[in-house]
Amino acid sequence: MTLERSNIAAMQGYAPGEQPQDLTTIKLNTNENPYPPSPEVAAALSAFDVASLRRYPNPIADEFRRIAADLHGLSLDNVIPTNGGDELLRLMLTTFVAEGEVVATTKPTYSLYPVLAAIQGAKLSEIDLDEQWRLPSDLIQQLHEIKAKAFILVNPHAPTGSLVSSATIAEIAENFDGVLVVDEAYIDFVDPDLEHNCVPLLQRFDNLLILRTMSKGYSLAGLRFGYGLAAKKLAAPMLFKTRDSYNTDAISQRLAAAALASQSYAKSTWNKVRESREKMFAELTSMGLTCLASQSNFLLCTIPESIGAPRAYAALKEKGVLVRYFDQDRLRDKLRISIGTEEENSRLIRALADLCRSES
Ligand SMILES: Cc1ncc(COP(=O)(O)O)c(C=O)c1O
Repeated sequence: MTLERSNIAAMQGYAPGEQPQDLTTIKLNTNENPYPPSPEVAAALSAFDVASLRRYPNPIADEFRRIAADLHGLSLDNVIPTNGGDELLRLMLTTFVAEGEVVATTKPTYSLYPVLAAIQGAKLSEIDLDEQWRLPSDLIQQLHEIKAKAFILVNPHAPTGSLVSSATIAEIAENFDGVLVVDEAYIDFVDPDLEHNCVPLLQRFDNLLILRTMSKGYSLAGLRFGYGLAAKKLAAPMLFKTRDSYNTDAISQRLAAAALASQSYAKSTWNKVRESREKMFAELTSMGLTCLASQSNFLLCTIPESIGAPRAYAALKEKGVLVRYFDQDRLRDKLRISIGTEEENSRLIRALADLCRSES
């Protein structure tokens, strides 16, 4: 006999990537920014008045929301502060998808979505990407047929790093009558020359919810701060009804605000990551490995059958380099490798080259 709800008893919890706490492991497995947070974050932490913790924090992180609204050319009503981007996903499901209703996503995708759908008791519908990892041409028809209440699209895509254009996002938002969640966890690493920007679409579509996180672009994975951007009407129930009363704490609000205000510092880290990504892509390709071009801070790399991805994962780990292996359809012959510092990337390349050489 269990006291759990039947859907909770039937589900598996989320399996996060390994998080070794030693600082010697080269950690290229959970897509963190390899550079430290802005010096302004350290300054804000030192200046933080501990005595102020006696009081509750600002309930909806007004300082942070003001900075985010200015940055994106929106108003306070459009910004939903959350305890990591993950909390926004959970809030979205709680608010818009009832038990038994359908939430759609792509396959493969971020592996937390199915877990959150199971917690909510929602039905998950996974829409296959095509051979080139693109959205199927009949996506909108499929969303209608399955009667999806929400569609969660990670863009740039995880784990491939491919990018769906804002024109396609607009077309989906226009023709879908549920909530379109565009998870932009990795948006900061998109090549600026592409001039990709979905935020202006919020003026046109009140069923569009954009997820942002401070974990990747702003080097604050350990802080747990993210936010949603949406039209006032879509944001309001999450801001004023379903959000926990004090979902972000006073220290996180202050540090996240300091990081978001340090745009030029953050951009300098994104540039370095992009340069290293292109360099790593070229190096892996010249070793004869197939990689997908990525607009994110990771590369999805196919490992030759003679080695096998699980064995390559284990051999790299043995050498102190952690990458991510997914035991999932279409991914079993691949490793997802986060972009690290130049030195970390060189260690990875050397370890992989040794492995390839020992097999030839
Ligand atoms: C695709 C995607 N979305 C959202 C998140 C949530 O990030 P966080 O909860 O750290 O803000 C992650 C984290 O890895 C992610 O990969």
